[in-house]
Amino acid sequence: MSELSVDHLLGIKYLKREDIELIFETADHFKEVINRPIKKVPSLRDITIANLFFENSTRTRLSFELAEKRLSADVINFSAAQSSVKKGETLIDTVNNILSMKVDMVVMRHPNPGAGVFLSKNVKASIINAGDGAHEHPTQALLDSYSIRERLGDVEGKNVVIVGDILHSRVALSNIFALQLQGANVKVCGPKTLIPKYIGNLGVGVETDLRKALEWCDVANMLRVQNERMDISYFPSTREYTQQYGVSKALLDSLDKEIVIMHPGPINRGVEITSDVADSKQAIILNQVENGVAVRMAVVYLLASKIKQ
Ligand code: CP
Repeated sequence: MSELSVDHLLGIKYLKREDIELIFETADHFKEVINRPIKKVPSLRDITIANLFFENSTRTRLSFELAEKRLSADVINFSAAQSSVKKGETLIDTVNNILSMKVDMVVMRHPNPGAGVFLSKNVKASIINAGDGAHEHPTQALLDSYSIRERLGDVEGKNVVIVGDILHSRVALSNIFALQLQGANVKVCGPKTLIPKYIGNLGVGVETDLRKALEWCDVANMLRVQNERMDISYFPSTREYTQQYGVSKALLDSLDKEIVIMHPGPINRGVEITSDVADSKQAIILNQVENGVAVRMAVVYLLASKIKQ
């Protein structure tokens, strides 16, 4: 396969396994590039990209911007808080105004699930979903799988547990799709109140006992409790959540194998993982962030190649 099967990256559910393999092979090349003294290639000198963030972000926003600049694209950044969205402008009008400035590609984070799909049907540009509400976060899942492949050699056949607030997590859904597409076995673990009822329909195992989940897995992807998306209490207190679903070094050391710890960030140290876990050799959290640039370079490059045709 020499090109992606899609014109936009709206979610992992629209990708084939071959798309992921192509993205990873391309990311391998770009990872080598960004470790050179001159970390830049001229590939996208003729492409202009708008990064539209309607929700807060540190990693994804900076990672996309750096990826685009490493490819020599022209980049403009839009933050909803300082924009005319505050004066009532619609999403389509906002984006069409930006596109009339000769923009080729839009990277968008938005609080509403499906915002990327909606945009792709209503504007003429290649759209990359940088997280849409509690729906999908495809580049996060790609960089997560890429990091598993880097640490363990392959994703196929690995046991991966996603721990925590599955209900409000776009990272969980995109990871489930990506891991299954590559032949991994996936379980989720957390309080029943934070596990969606439909999860069994996705072919995912459910475990409410964290120790059992950790004994089963090769990789544990620890998620943050997304208090900002909750309008009710889903567990009695943060202290009790941590007692049951927090991973400490003592818990990891009591297992009879060494598992890999992942976290998409931002971390709540002392809630879902303790600092000694976050900073341990078992954790690949900063490797995930580093790989995010190479994986996003690959996604942007491959989608831009389709625009140029
Ligand atoms: N992992 C992730 O999406 O982090 P940000 O919200 O900081 O972009």
